[in-house]
Order: sequence, then structure tokens, then C-alpha cells
Amino acid sequence: MISRETIDEIKNRLDLVDVISDFVSLKRAGQNYKALSPFSNEKTPSFFVVPAKGLFKDFSSGKAGDAITFVMEHEGMSYVEALKYLAKKYGVEIKEDQRTGAPGEDHSERDSLYILMNYAKDYYHQILLGNEEGQSIGLSYFKERGFTPKTIEKFELGYALDSWDAFSGEAVRKGYNQELLEKTGLVVKKEEGRSYDRFRGRVIFPVHNISGKVIAFGARMMGKDKNQPKYINSPETEIYHKSQVLYGLYQAKNTIRQQENCYLVEGYTDVISMHQSDVENVVASSGTALTEDQIKLIRRFTENVTVLFDGDAAGIKAALRGIDLILKGGLNVRVVLLPDGEDPDSYSRKVGTTQFQEYLSSHRQDFISFKAGLYAREAAGDPIRKAESIREIVTSIALIPDPIKRSVYIQETSNQLKVAESVLFTELNKLIIQERRKRDRDQPPVPEEPITVEQIEDKLAPNKFDPEVLVQRQEREAIRLLLNYADQAIAHEEDSAITEKLSAFVLHELEDVEFSNPVYHNIAAQFKEAVLKGESLSSQHFLEQGADPAVRNIVSELITPRYATSEYWHKKYGIYFPGEADILKEMAFTNVLRLKFRVVQRMMEDNLLKIKDAEGKNDQDQLTALLDSHVGLKAAEHELASVLGIVVAR
Ligand code: UTP
Ligand code: MN
Repeated sequence: MISRETIDEIKNRLDLVDVISDFVSLKRAGQNYKALSPFSNEKTPSFFVVPAKGLFKDFSSGKAGDAITFVMEHEGMSYVEALKYLAKKYGVEIKEDQRTGAPGEDHSERDSLYILMNYAKDYYHQILLGNEEGQSIGLSYFKERGFTPKTIEKFELGYALDSWDAFSGEAVRKGYNQELLEKTGLVVKKEEGRSYDRFRGRVIFPVHNISGKVIAFGARMMGKDKNQPKYINSPETEIYHKSQVLYGLYQAKNTIRQQENCYLVEGYTDVISMHQSDVENVVASSGTALTEDQIKLIRRFTENVTVLFDGDAAGIKAALRGIDLILKGGLNVRVVLLPDGEDPDSYSRKVGTTQFQEYLSSHRQDFISFKAGLYAREAAGDPIRKAESIREIVTSIALIPDPIKRSVYIQETSNQLKVAESVLFTELNKLIIQERRKRDRDQPPVPEEPITVEQIEDKLAPNKFDPEVLVQRQEREAIRLLLNYADQAIAHEEDSAITEKLSAFVLHELEDVEFSNPVYHNIAAQFKEAVLKGESLSSQHFLEQGADPAVRNIVSELITPRYATSEYWHKKYGIYFPGEADILKEMAFTNVLRLKFRVVQRMMEDNLLKIKDAEGKNDQDQLTALLDSHVGLKAAEHELASVLGIVVAR
């Protein structure tokens, strides 16, 4: 057991913000800090750090606690592992408590795996620097590649002797048991109980997790034996899950945060050579396409990824597919195409630091326009291929979760390809609808509202995020439905044999919602009265002489039919939009939920302002109360959003 005094000393020395900053990009908010939750995939920051209390609170996952809890939750460590990690970080010497157990006895299995991997890393490193074979083969290879001693230290590179048991023999002498050696994958077990070292006669690249612990190795062969793989890697173990690790992230994370960009390359040598060219915000996916987990990992530090492409044209199109997943993950993607036949490793060494960095900044381009340019050149003068290109590019745009970004890309692509925006939007809507249909294949297809060019402009307006605007847009839709379809019968929620009037349904559902726009409020009040009296109210009523001119204005606008173009679209593009009358129930239901959703978001916005205020005044009690109501609102928002089937975009 770690002694009480040691635990107290760790707690005294640690700095909560510093601990969390190793994993999360914190932004100051008054006395406190906030960030995107590292525990969920959110778009609005709801992760708070309150240094005065030594606590963090994550509203999206509900996790909360102190620095030790954070490390446990974030790194999946046990209490003891977290304490040891923090002790190392803050230079606290660990004193074991003799009364409750002997030193070393409390290691969990994971702990033991980390310890053995760390031992192996030190061992291979020592062989590289101090052993004759290590020096003459491993070290001289690295030197030939241009790796400096500083680099060799920074990446803790090593060498495995060309022997079946040099490593395992040494490890067993040091007291590590056979079973553990096999569990780390460092030793391979054969039938009849015999075993041998996995890595032999190769240079060693340790793979670190985000907190700097070695969890795997990559090993490159020496010479040119065609019958052997160039690289062999550690197998999956309890502490190593390939799909959740990025090579170089540990060494890169601080620079990624500072530069607000992460370069993505293919492998070990690219990462290391770029560091030698003073580009330190670089990670490698190790040969394969990026996984969803790896994308989430990057998102903890930045929203911007720049992918470096080798300059061989054949590989580019295959690589483009992998990038689609990054777009889907909500990251902004840029690309740099390297000159023909070069990879980041070879090119950075060839031209040197200054020129390499200049190349990166001057050849960086947005991924969508890169792709558009690539296809546009190919399709020049060939209408059929041009149509294919458009579909190809719109397919990528359709993956971007943020509708505003999508519309900006549509505009840019339209300019670049000289294709009308409306054509691109048509294609985009088709894809989005298809995708959603696929997603809820079990449910009957829900008719989708197409995006019109007006709506796009609306979205790009400066106040596009104003919660009040969003609330009033739904108020307006509620009024429009009432004006056009108040007396139409729609099926009752619980029993479809019973029908009720649309006006009764909508107004009942919105009982507790106060319309904030005075004109809409006025109209809704008149409908409410009519519903209570069991009377009908024609929209003509609002247009009669003597009616409020503001009301008349809005009513006349709202009773003009929408989708006047739909027949044209149907003829021209073969797209069918169901008439509104067919889907009234759906529309009324959706509108009611959307209005509530926007009202909740407006309340959250108000609440956030109050939180800022309380932070400014350092009123901790008030702050706690406000953060609590934030949780409640967030939960309501999520529930409404999930019923609506929309992603909470903001
Ligand atoms: P390279 O083939 O360029 O490796 O692959 P290299 O070590 O730089 O070899 P040379 O000197 O150019 O011939 C680039 C990266 O791809 C990964 C490695 O991470 C390597 O750094 N890779 C390559 C593998 O993981 N496995 C392989 O078999 C090959
Ligand atoms: Mn190479």
C-alpha cells in the first residue's frame, strides 16, 4: 500500500489544471476552465474545471471528481496506478506502507504489464547504446538515417539482439515471470511449452500511450531479407489496442494544442523525421486508415487535421476514402501533397528544416477543394465524368456533420467546378436522405425537408446561432401550421382510430410554452380561444379589415404555399417531395418538439450567461446551483434531440 503521507504529498503538490491539461485542451472561463468533454463526443463544451475547489465536472457524462479521479477515469487506471502516475509527474517519492503489505505486492495485472513494457524499453535502449552489436548494427543504422542522439532519446529508440532468447533470458533473471512475458507479446509461445523472443535483430520503436507509458513496440528489420516483413509490431494486449493508439501523440500533444493543427502521416519514420525538422505536431496511424477511436483521440486536442500525402498519384484516390471517415468525425481536413516519389521522411531530410516547413505552409489546401480540383482536371471536357466527379465530391460533403460547413463547401465547390449551387444541393439532399433512410431502415421512411437556398442564406446570416432567432423560427412554423391546417384531423398519439384537430394537438402540446414574438403570440392566443370554445378559426379572419397590420402582413405571407418549385424539381431531377397534407401529423409533431428544443436551448444560453457572471463574482454557491440547472437542461436537450433524431449542433 502507498502510505498516507505519500498520498497527502501527491495531493499537495499536484495542480489540477496542469494534470487535466495533459489530456484536454482547456479554455479559461473566468476563474474556471472549460473544454469539450473528453468522455463523450460533444460539440458544445460542458466539461468544467473549478480549481478553487480542486474539482472537475463533466456534464455530458456525469463524471466528476478530483485530479486523481480524473486520471483514473481518463486513462482507465486503478487508484494506485493513478497515484503512481501523479507521483512521477510531480517528483514525489513513493513510500510503501509496511504494515499493510510488502512492496510491489499490490500491482494489478495491468500495472505489471506496464512495468514489464517499461523494462523492455529500457533494455532495448541500453542494448542500442551500450552493446557492441547494438552499436554496430542498430545505432549505425539510425545514424545513417540521420537520426540525432537527441531524437534517439526523445523517442526512446532501441535495438533487439539477433538472438532467440537474449531479451527473455535477461528478463527472467531480473525476476519477471514467463506468463507475464507472454502476455506482453514480447515473447511468443510455441507448442510444447517452448518460447522465443518476438523481436530479433531489429531496431525498436516504442509506442507510447497518451500519458507516456510504453504499451507496444514496432520493430524494423535490418538489411533486405525479402522473406521477412519490414516491420513487425506488438500484438494486441490488455494494455495495447492498436485501433485506439496514434504513434507520436504523446510527444506531439502539447504542440498540437498550441498550433491548433495535427499532421497525419503514415509511420514511425515520418513522425521522427518531421520532429527533426521541428514539426512536432505530427502523429501516425501506422499504415492503416484512421479509425473512429483515433479520430476521437485527435479531437481531444484539436479540430484540425492536415494529412500528408506521398506524391505518387496511384495511391491518392485510395487514400481519399480514408479521409471521408475523418470528415464524418467532424474534423476540418486539409491536405499537403508531397512531390512525386517523396514521403514526409525522405522529403524533410532532402530539403531540410526551413524549406520543408515552407513547403507545408504553402502547399496546404482544404481537402474538399483538393478533391474537387483533382476530379475537375480529370473530367475536363467529358460531361459524363464530370457528373461522376460531382457525385464523388458531394459524397464527401454529405459526410460533414455540420450543416453550415456543408453549405459553405457547396458554395465553394460550385465556384470551383462551375456548377450551379442548386444542382449540388439537389445531389446533397438526395445523399443525406438516402443515408438517413439507411440508418433507420427498420422504421418507415420519414419524408425529409429539402434544404432551400434561402435556408442556406439564413444559416449563414450573422445571427444564425442566436437562440432567440431559432426559437422564433419554430414559433413561426407553429403559426403557419395553425393558419393553414388548424381544422385538419390528425391521428391521436395513443390510438390512431381517434383523431383530433391539428390546432387542438399543437396548442395542447405547447401549453407551457410562451410565444416570445408578440405577433405570433397574438395569433396563437386567438387560436387557443377558438379551440377552447370548440369553434373554427379561418385564416381569412386575420386578413379582414380592422385587423392588426403586423398580423395581416405575417398571415398573408404564411398562407402562401411552400415548395412551389417541387413539381419543377420532380420533372427536372426526378425528386419527389410529398405534399404537406400527406405528412401533417409528422410536421406538427416535429414542430412542437423543435420549438421545445429551441426554448430549452435558449434557457441554456441564459443560464450560461449567469454562470459567467457567477464566475466573475467568484460566487461558488451560485455557480454550483447554476451548473446543476445546466445539467438538467442539458438532459432535456438531449432527450428532445434524440426524439427528433438530430444531432445537437451548435
Ligand atoms: P517505409 O516502407 O518507408 O519504411 O514505410 P521505412 O522504414 O522508412 O523504410 P525505407 O528506409 O524508406 O525503405 C513508412 C512507414 O510505414 C510503416 C512504418 O511505420 C514506416 O515508418 N510500415 C511500413 C509498417 O508499419 N509496416 C511495413 O511493413 C512497412
Ligand atoms: Mn521510408
